[in-house]
Amino acid sequence: MTIVSKQTCNGVHVVICEDAAAAADYVAQGLQTRLRETPTSVLGLATGSTPEPVYARMVAWCESGEGSMRDATTFNLDEYCGLRPDHPKSYRTYMHERLFDAVGLPESQTNLPNGVAADIAAAAQDYESAIAATGGIDWQLLGIGGNGHIGFNEPGSSRNSRTREVQLAAATREANARFFDSMEEVPTSAITMGIDTILRADCIVLMATSFGKAEAVSSALQGSVGSTNPASFLREHANASFVLDREAASGLV
Ligand code: PGA
Repeated sequence: MTIVSKQTCNGVHVVICEDAAAAADYVAQGLQTRLRETPTSVLGLATGSTPEPVYARMVAWCESGEGSMRDATTFNLDEYCGLRPDHPKSYRTYMHERLFDAVGLPESQTNLPNGVAADIAAAAQDYESAIAATGGIDWQLLGIGGNGHIGFNEPGSSRNSRTREVQLAAATREANARFFDSMEEVPTSAITMGIDTILRADCIVLMATSFGKAEAVSSALQGSVGSTNPASFLREHANASFVLDREAASGLV
């Protein structure tokens, strides 16, 4: 794993790695250290392409017998509205395929918002209560959208937002269309942890790789703090890190 630099930028630890593989190594090793120290950690997890290599490393770590995730509890950031948990494109299916099943995490210890609840507002409140009942999230993994979103907190989301239903930005639906057979199949709304929900985690690790994220990363770290770039609110957190590859860091000055 090659680390190019470690610095602090506007209160955020910024780790620039040689490439996406090195960034995944760095994030996975941090998570492994945490799980060795506290096997019962409460983890906040993300979907998307960026964390896939982190999950692959966690699976290898568990399969080799070196470590275990069996005692952890997980809360995912978000879920599409209208997709049943067993829908092939739901985020629950993503998590089972990439992590939960291979590391032997019992389903009862894994949590995702219920995107098919009859009462989405009540389901959102239940999700907040379930997180609070564990004592809160110890370690939160985030990706970042090209528009600066974290979870599905699109630009315009308030600092104080909690878990709720949100409409997906057109750019987000287009970016996620690659996971679906056609644009029409991409859900138009989702249920997501809010920005305040995310900021309550003890430790936050945002991972970004590729040139496509460079502008969102630089504006989050070096633009103004506010709803225009929801990831900028991470600068208000006491223990937030951005783990980047060189490409995603290329807009930093
Ligand atoms: P990606 O998504 O990892 O698939 O780029 C990140 C995000 O939209 O939060």
